[in-house]
Amino acid sequence: MKKNIVILGSTGSIGTQTLEVIDALDNNFNVTALAAGSNISLLSEQIEKYKPKSVSVKTNEDAQKLKFKYPDLNVYWGEEGLSELAQIEDANLIMVALSGKHGLKPTLKAIENKKDIALANKETLVMAGDMVVHKAKEYGVKILPVDSEHSAIFQCLNNQKALKYLILTSSGGPFRNKSYEEIKKADIKSVLNHPNWSMGKKITVDSATLMNKGLEVIEAHHLFNIDYDNIKVVIHPQSYIHSAVEYCDGSIIAQIGKPSMHIPIQYALTYPDRLEGIETESFDFTKAVKFEFYEPDYDKFPSLKLAIEAGKCGGTATTCLNAANEESVLSFLAGKIKFSDIYDITKKVYDSYKPILNPSIEQILSEDDKIRKQTIELINSIVGVK
Ligand SMILES: NC(=O)c1ccc[n+]([C@@H]2O[C@H](COP(=O)([O-])OP(=O)(O)OC[C@H]3O[C@@H](n4cnc5c(N)ncnc54)[C@H](OP(=O)(O)O)[C@@H]3O)[C@@H](O)[C@H]2O)c1
Repeated sequence: MKKNIVILGSTGSIGTQTLEVIDALDNNFNVTALAAGSNISLLSEQIEKYKPKSVSVKTNEDAQKLKFKYPDLNVYWGEEGLSELAQIEDANLIMVALSGKHGLKPTLKAIENKKDIALANKETLVMAGDMVVHKAKEYGVKILPVDSEHSAIFQCLNNQKALKYLILTSSGGPFRNKSYEEIKKADIKSVLNHPNWSMGKKITVDSATLMNKGLEVIEAHHLFNIDYDNIKVVIHPQSYIHSAVEYCDGSIIAQIGKPSMHIPIQYALTYPDRLEGIETESFDFTKAVKFEFYEPDYDKFPSLKLAIEAGKCGGTATTCLNAANEESVLSFLAGKIKFSDIYDITKKVYDSYKPILNPSIEQILSEDDKIRKQTIELINSIVGVK
């Protein structure tokens, strides 16, 4: 039977790759609904190709234009539009491929409506991991990881009781071999030039600071119910080993393949089955030049350390970390602040914050809002905006 899928963030890096996977899987999926932000021309192409029943966009203005062009389509907009799509009655799976803070509310809505989730948006678990995982259990909803590291762990983990360590690999990002002084002066072009992965801008900047790996440690803690002390980060520049689990008997199981998001996306879509899909070429070990591994340099990449500290603190500490980091990254991408300011500002906001332990969802959302405003004020004071 065909699965009905909703893709939130269909015009982004994960969203477009999800549609490529669906194309390759031919008759296995109906694309029921698509949500985009502002890329209306790409969304229009997707509407014409996949014929969804409903779509959602960022603004009312774009929604009106689409309704005029496609009168039979249900068109929604804004935050509420995303939540509408997350609860569409005949949907079996919601792919949450939105960037940043936009993932949390529709994910919660999908859970409350008993829809299984393919979760690419790690910020959802960093903002409110305890709440999301608890709710998913309560409603009997599966959260299928799309992040390649978490998909790797999900594929290797067959005995939670015997689990000793999760080993999260990281390419080290574009500045692995640069000095601290060089990294501090990095411009937008070099930051966005990731060696192994082509991704959306926010995650690419996070990969350069290694905040991305820190967010992934927090994500792994929530998804796999494991203590922070049992999560190891290892730099593996080739990105062939996507992550691994170590069991109490010393056995280590790793998931290996070429760096491609198609494989984790496809596994989330077809789970528990494995189908022949878009990646048809076998991995050739004889051509995999090297498998190298290093300790992360926490002094050169202090964001990773800060994220793990926030994770260990718990409660809204990670909500604060996520909000301050995201606003700083957006300001960097807008050309307002320097690359090194991203960490400095995030750290300053984080250090002045008193977290709430065991917060309600309302508290998480209001703290998130408050911290974002505080971060923007701090940025404006640095760049001299009144
Ligand atoms: N890319 C990867 O390889 C990768 C790997 C692992 C995990 N992830 C995670 O997956 C998530 C998505 O990453 P990405 O790289 O695919 O990001 P991306 O390329 O920037 O795509 C983000 C998507 O969200 C949409 N969007 C943004 N703001 C919106 C709003 N206000 N309302 C509705 N839609 C909005 C964008 O629409 P428009 O473009 O139309 O504005 C786009 O479709 C992130 O959480 C990231 O950490 C990504």
